[in-house]
Amino acid sequence: MQRFIDKVERRTAVVGIIGQGYVGLPLGLVLCEAGLAVIGFDVEARKIHAISRGESYIKHIGPERVAAAVKSGRYAATTDFDRLAECDAILICVPTPLGRHREPDNSYIHSTGREIAKRLRRGQLVVLESTTYPGTTDDELRPILETSGLRCGEDFMLAFSPEREDPGRKDFTTKTTPKVVGGVDEASTRAAAALYGAAMQKVVSVSSARVAESTKLLENVFRSVNIALVNELKVIFDRMGVDVWEVIRAAETKPFGFMAFYPGPGLGGHCIPLDPFYLAWKAAEYGEWARFIELAGEINTRMPRYVVGKIAEGLNDSGKAVKGSRVLVLGLAYKANVDDDRESPSYEIIELLQEAGAAVDYCDPHFPVAKKTRKHDLGLRSVPVDPETFARYDAVVLATAHDAFKDATLYRGVELVVDTRNVVAPALGGTWSGRPRLVKA
Ligand SMILES: NC(=O)c1ccc[n+]([C@@H]2O[C@H](COP(=O)([O-])OP(=O)(O)OC[C@H]3O[C@@H](n4cnc5c(N)ncnc54)[C@H](O)[C@@H]3O)[C@@H](O)[C@H]2O)c1
Repeated sequence: MQRFIDKVERRTAVVGIIGQGYVGLPLGLVLCEAGLAVIGFDVEARKIHAISRGESYIKHIGPERVAAAVKSGRYAATTDFDRLAECDAILICVPTPLGRHREPDNSYIHSTGREIAKRLRRGQLVVLESTTYPGTTDDELRPILETSGLRCGEDFMLAFSPEREDPGRKDFTTKTTPKVVGGVDEASTRAAAALYGAAMQKVVSVSSARVAESTKLLENVFRSVNIALVNELKVIFDRMGVDVWEVIRAAETKPFGFMAFYPGPGLGGHCIPLDPFYLAWKAAEYGEWARFIELAGEINTRMPRYVVGKIAEGLNDSGKAVKGSRVLVLGLAYKANVDDDRESPSYEIIELLQEAGAAVDYCDPHFPVAKKTRKHDLGLRSVPVDPETFARYDAVVLATAHDAFKDATLYRGVELVVDTRNVVAPALGGTWSGRPRLVKA
């Protein structure tokens, strides 16, 4: 362990990062910028080639950072997993999706573990970063790594450190967001803390990998439950003729004991819609029910249907049916100003509208073409962001609060706007005189 720490301090340690996605690429860059040599591994050759050319394939990660890292000679990218043997530390940042029945799918972690085991050597540190349920590092990854014949604690070190990446966030970066680390033993925790401490401003060591795994889940369950709470209140207050956004703005003025969460068309992104179910699934093994998680999942999952119901009501008030109406959905991304559409509720809203017989288009400057994903294949291209285009639709549905949609003049010829993010009313401000008709959903 001391040898490993010395290498980190002398900046002679080589760090391998498996998975060069939303988590792995920025993590690699920040370690490289701290003076460490990084090798990025991925199964997608397209990403490896882009990095090697000094290009970024993630919009909020500037290409100049990738170019500088590659130019420094300290960032290499490869699909050749034999190069794992060159690494002193190996960080795993592969996907942890849910299966069709909302069961955890740790197969990427397992297959990555097997690739590492084939090349594992004495003195290496392995850190799992992918979000998962408590026990994965100790009970699943460790035995896979030990098929190498090496023993954890004697021959190699193993830890969990959750990622806290928030794509598009400007006030906190990978470097300034505190990093939690928990090893399967004391030496692993110290080694992992030394590694991250070389690049990040603050490292928080905890007593075990299980605590580190659970910390990440607490953070995400907290968000999922609170978002579900405001989504439920949105529906209740709407029936009472009360605007939930105004209520939140007022409640936010309390200087203590309140934290604002905002309603929306449903959960999106790689984390909040998925991770809580990892814990719910694992809790069942212990004879426990994760009731808050299930309830929050139920409420949040229902939101796209609620939005479509509000669109139908709005069209009805114009004497129109959903069937045959032209509807424009603004935003495919799951959150404002990013090019990340994973688990975005916009897809479900579009598909529900199509099922009901509407002719649907979308507009998202971050997605000129709707990509084919594992679950969706819209076969659509974005329409332009301009008032003439918007005016051609019977209803315009704001699903993502991109800055591009905040210009009031865009809506001047639109008859009905269904706003799920409270963007259009503030944009229209005082100049608004009843057109477009605005429905908050
Ligand atoms: N995106 C976020 O904001 C975020 C935040 C916190 C935690 N996480 C967690 O981090 C993990 C990774 O998420 P992400 O957003 O970076 O996913 P991602 O899909 O952007 O990246 C994963 C990368 O792993 C690669 N990959 C898949 N299988 C592989 C294999 N066998 N070997 C090597 N590479 C492989 C993929 O090609 C992809 O480039 C997940 O567990 C996620 O829950 C994500």
